[in-house]
Amino acid sequence: MRSVMISICVAFVLAIGSARLGGLLAQTTPEPQTHYKHGQGYQHSFENAEKWAKAFDDPARDAWQKPDEVLDALHLQRTDRVADLGAGTGYFSARIAKLVPEGKLFSVDIEPEMLRHLRERARHENLGVLVPILASTESANLPEPVDLILVVDTYHHIDNRVAYFSKLKASLRPNGRLAIVDFKADSPEGPPPEHRIPPEKITSELDTAGYTIVATHPFLARQYFLVFQAKTS
Ligand SMILES: C[S@@+](CC[C@H](N)C(=O)[O-])C[C@H]1O[C@@H](n2cnc3c(N)ncnc32)[C@H](O)[C@@H]1O
Repeated sequence: MRSVMISICVAFVLAIGSARLGGLLAQTTPEPQTHYKHGQGYQHSFENAEKWAKAFDDPARDAWQKPDEVLDALHLQRTDRVADLGAGTGYFSARIAKLVPEGKLFSVDIEPEMLRHLRERARHENLGVLVPILASTESANLPEPVDLILVVDTYHHIDNRVAYFSKLKASLRPNGRLAIVDFKADSPEGPPPEHRIPPEKITSELDTAGYTIVATHPFLARQYFLVFQAKTS
């Protein structure tokens, strides 16, 4: 099965798109098949990464997503190994790749169309460290442990999160970090309200999964930005 992607993408695109982009999407994007299963991600069928790239990589997004400030706050080293979990069209991956030229970047997604797009983007933009990884809904399928796993606008799409993130600890190197950025309840962008996860719930879920919160960055007006590490004992 080649197409599972999340509803936030629809809400996200429609919300951040300009009137021109909204019109374009209305004309060209098939009606998504959305559904919600209790305790699982909110998903829909998806194809055509290039159309989604117009929204995800819209420079207007930078004003509220603040990608460079987000990455600055994570203090990456040139040799770091990073996973961009739910990489989409590479909005964050393209920036991360330039920060870790002597490290590795695994750009992970469950959508094969996104991986094809990422591969082409890496070639066109000379992002030599970018390695596309096809995930499943049960596993990120990372080939080796990393220093940072970044999850932007994707946490709420993940199924069975306690089990998923409990297993994902094995993909963190010693002192490795898990950073989550996702939409606040009152953000004009984001998924329908019932699919927004309060930061307290994320912290609680990840506590159960074996993580402790190590930083909270308050500079994103529309999103929360939380950093976790695996508990040591
Ligand atoms: C809203 S997009 C965000 C993309 C990117 N992080 C960004 O900020 O532009 C969510 C992405 O997560 C992917 N995704 C959804 N569930 C996933 C999962 N369980 N594992 C990996 N990727 C997933 C989707 O295919 C989609 O590309």
